Amino acid sequence: MSHADDAARAAAAAAAVDLVSPGMTIGLGSGRALWKVVELLGTRFGAAPEGEGASSSAPRGPLRAVAASSRTDELARAAGIDVVELDGSVELDLALDGADEVDGSLRLIKGGGGALLREKIVVSAARRFVVVAENRKRVERLGEGFRLPVEVVKFAWRDTRRRVGALVPDATLRLREDGESYVTDEGHFILDCTLPGDADLE
Ligand code: A5P
Repeated sequence: MSHADDAARAAAAAAAVDLVSPGMTIGLGSGRALWKVVELLGTRFGAAPEGEGASSSAPRGPLRAVAASSRTDELARAAGIDVVELDGSVELDLALDGADEVDGSLRLIKGGGGALLREKIVVSAARRFVVVAENRKRVERLGEGFRLPVEVVKFAWRDTRRRVGALVPDATLRLREDGESYVTDEGHFILDCTLPGDADLE
């Protein structure tokens, strides 16, 4: 990853944070761009961590957030952001999240970081969704440079892979660096699939 990518990601994150106002409840996805957003939100809205001037009776921060991954949850809390659950009563003013590819119609490939199911649930709970992505994520056609991640339950996953494979070929089980199966925060597997150039994206 180049220095230019880092700078582009930081610029995208800063622009996204400008859309956040005190009092909002927002959704936070996952990935490097989003974690940059979390860092900047912490600077702007975060309460001081315990032991650094804050007390348990300190007022809660002016921003509430729902986190789509355990890593985002951890980073948001560390940044002093009030993390809440999507418990059926929470409405999200805005959701911010990254993407692996973005096409000209703002269609996305998501899930490179393996948090796609929760991310999509968080985004669908929000009134507005803003994608935080650096220029290199823009493509003419989705699937050009990135495979399509599909999150599947473990039960009968090989059957599911066969059925997914009928739509998108080469559905391959995602593995961790140590060779074990990658498992999402929801306990599911991910199939990474080739998106054919002539696929009907809708
Ligand atoms: C996580 O599951 C993904 O959907 C991310 O939003 C996506 O992979 C972009 O991540 P980066 O910002 O790290 O490129």
